[in-house]
Amino acid sequence: MAPTSIMACNTANRLIGLKWDNDLLPEACSCLEDDLPLPPSVPGGMVEFRRTLTTSFLFKFFLSVQQRLNLKDVPPPYRSACSLYHREPPHGAQMYQEVPEGQAREDAVGRPIMHLSALKQVTGEAVYTDDMPPIQGELYLGLVLSKKAHAKIVSIDPSEALKMPGVETFVSAEDVPGSNITGPVVLDEEVFASEKVTCVGQVVGAVLADTQAHAQRAAKAVVVQYEDLEPKIITIEDAILHQSFFHPINKIEKGNLEEAFERSDQIIEGELRIGGQEHFYLETCAAIVVPHGEDGEMEIFCSTQNPTKTQMLAAKALGVPANRVVCRMKRMGGGFGGKETRTCVISSVCAVAAHKVRRPVRIMLDRDEDMVITGTRHPFLGRYKVGFMSDGRVLALDISLYSNAGNSLDLSRGVTDRALFHSDSVYTIPNVRAVGYTCKTNTASNTAFRGFGGPQGLFFAESWISDVATKCGISQLTVREINMNKEGDLTHYNMKLERCQVQRCWEECLKQSDFHTRRRQVDRFNGENRWKKRGLAAIPTKFGISFTSTFLNQAGALVHVYTDGSVLVTHGGTEMGQGLHTKMVQVACRALKIPTSRIHISETSTNTVPNTSPTAASASSDLNGMAVKIACETILQRLEPYMGKGSWDDWVRAAYFDRVGLSATGFYRTPGLAYDMEKNEGRPFNYFCYGAAVSEVEIDCLTGDHTVLRTDIVMDVGDSLNPAIDIGQIEGAFVQGCGLFTMEEQVYSPEGVLYSRGPGMYKIPGFADIPIHFNVSLLRGAPNDKAIFSSKAVGEPPLFLASSVFFAIKDAIYSARADAGLKGTFRLDSPATAECIRMACEDQFTAQFPAAEPGSFKPWAIKL
Ligand code: MTE
Ligand code: HPA
Ligand code: MOS
Repeated sequence: MAPTSIMACNTANRLIGLKWDNDLLPEACSCLEDDLPLPPSVPGGMVEFRRTLTTSFLFKFFLSVQQRLNLKDVPPPYRSACSLYHREPPHGAQMYQEVPEGQAREDAVGRPIMHLSALKQVTGEAVYTDDMPPIQGELYLGLVLSKKAHAKIVSIDPSEALKMPGVETFVSAEDVPGSNITGPVVLDEEVFASEKVTCVGQVVGAVLADTQAHAQRAAKAVVVQYEDLEPKIITIEDAILHQSFFHPINKIEKGNLEEAFERSDQIIEGELRIGGQEHFYLETCAAIVVPHGEDGEMEIFCSTQNPTKTQMLAAKALGVPANRVVCRMKRMGGGFGGKETRTCVISSVCAVAAHKVRRPVRIMLDRDEDMVITGTRHPFLGRYKVGFMSDGRVLALDISLYSNAGNSLDLSRGVTDRALFHSDSVYTIPNVRAVGYTCKTNTASNTAFRGFGGPQGLFFAESWISDVATKCGISQLTVREINMNKEGDLTHYNMKLERCQVQRCWEECLKQSDFHTRRRQVDRFNGENRWKKRGLAAIPTKFGISFTSTFLNQAGALVHVYTDGSVLVTHGGTEMGQGLHTKMVQVACRALKIPTSRIHISETSTNTVPNTSPTAASASSDLNGMAVKIACETILQRLEPYMGKGSWDDWVRAAYFDRVGLSATGFYRTPGLAYDMEKNEGRPFNYFCYGAAVSEVEIDCLTGDHTVLRTDIVMDVGDSLNPAIDIGQIEGAFVQGCGLFTMEEQVYSPEGVLYSRGPGMYKIPGFADIPIHFNVSLLRGAPNDKAIFSSKAVGEPPLFLASSVFFAIKDAIYSARADAGLKGTFRLDSPATAECIRMACEDQFTAQFPAAEPGSFKPWAIKL
């Protein structure tokens, strides 16, 4: 900084003695340009933005001084350059339907009861994996991670590490007693990299030591020598260039595209990108593995959405049958999809290590390790061609979706497929070709993240339909409405829409938000302000519920009634904060007709309910709820003969003395699911969740900053099992979506090294990013006959509604561009960060610094 400020003094001398008038500004800007040169490859990147920002701030300063000096009246629209954001105390409303009159008082279903762990979570009493007290003889595991994106491992030398204090041993591929080959869906990974590494952050080895500090220090002292391999494929573009795809390349095709494009009045073609997203759960990945020393038995405590996969992959690495390994999971501090499979990387390594030393082993990743190792949401590139009539009717969509899967398949085929299934958003398009390329790259394997490819697919659709409206000169609302799904319509994968609630959500949301009045107010505001702009957008959504891998749509439960009348419920789902256990207690409460206080869920474990699916796809209350209900009904049936007299406790005791089994399992599979992509027929989903949101934003055109003034949401959750939890899920998903669409940006070096490794470099939403006015309504009177007690899933579907903030920002930018004389559509990728917003508001300041020729320099950072 020092040399720059001296230079600043020098050039600023040029300004001394000049008059404070409009001629001063260009002179001062050119001084700044000389003072703050930034080469195109400067560390930190964002060259044009940073240069524009300096002159933009100067402009703000210039105007504020001019205003105070009153020398020349600053034109009223220009005063917005210096004005502060409109700020009010935040407030929100949460609206839901009461339970029907006459519902038994004890029946908790449909009531807004508090998350059963909420109090413990806020006092800190809730126990997470790493809160478990140390076990006798326990060692800590430090990971040795690949520093190269694609390289041959020439040698691994742990000798220095082994001399360090507290160090017990070093563990690597040679120590794997079973199979080093692993992977959650296909076997294309290794527990420890053996011959080569295919991404930065891959596990090469591990050091066991007495403390975390010792283990981590020693892990850094392990010397790994590499020999670079070619090619190094980091971005989606690299993958396309090298045709590096996972096969087969899936495709959904309907109608006759050529003929439809022929008939279309207009055609738009475009390309758009949406970046990845770090899960940033509060609790990073953690595991404790306890070998029991007998018959290969091992117990794994792991923060995972997938106890069964944890068990199976550990057993495979250990070379023992699955019946020797138990995985237990009490709760997670968030998973968001990031713990659906990638936690197995950690737990399998710990299992091998624990086997080697025959002692318990613990790990909890530091945040920077977690961000490097465990993968993120898939970045996507979309290339599309849309044919439409001048009245806004869409006839044809030809879209190619490219997802960056990273170095292994993991769940990426499912993610790309879900993006394909959601590439119609809520619009009925008669002719579609959607092709999904799952790109294999040398980055950490990307994985499930709330929405699972859905938000990415939906994003492209909402973007091109916005452009259709702009091209036709018709309002955004009208174009969305004339293409919107109606009852009985067929999707592009030929599934019939039944009880389609999207129009209701849409209309009620427009009404709740007072859309039309506010549209006029926003337009008036924008007419009166040049440097602050407001934007308004309404976005609908539809999200398919079911695992798209049909076999995963099954669940089990185990219900025990003890002789004191208390009930222990176990089911296949895990608790990650989403309130699943609370809902399952509510289900058992209704099924057994006893108060929730008599029912407890303590953990999820593979020795109580086996062969479980991951807690994912938002379907866990649907699936496990049915299994719990079935188990409870079995027990109730057995108790029936004793119900003549006394209370629950009496029936239970009488049944016990009569030697009646007081424990039952329940099993459920979703009926009617099957989809054939070849024939493009069948039902990939059990049903859809619908919703709509209206958001209003204000942007600072000179800095690219934005604030969300108000959001209204109407969400269809059927007959909510628990409106308090469901509204919490909607609010949480929305704010997490705001991160995806407006803030969170992963920054990689051209060598595939992640720069953005902590909250200082990676911006997630904070309190001030919650919409100032935030109103959430649950759609009334919309029972769902496809799921437990007429409810619907809720975890993922609302996340996409946060794109209403993105499109409101885009709306605001349109106004700024119009003031600068720019007409027509423009490309805005996600996330709409301050940098993107500022640079899209083209003006005299952005024009001052022409962008450097791509390829003429090596950039500091790249986009995946
Ligand atoms: N809510 C909280 N508080 N924490 C989480 O990790 N994960 C989300 C969602 N809501 C998550 C959450 C994701 S990705 C999914 S798929 C669902 O919860 C899974 O739980 P469910 O099937 O019980 O809805
Ligand atoms: N959604 C979420 N997680 C999944 C899915 C899915 O469709 N399939 C496999 N894991
Ligand atoms: Mo959620 S992404 O299906 O774990």
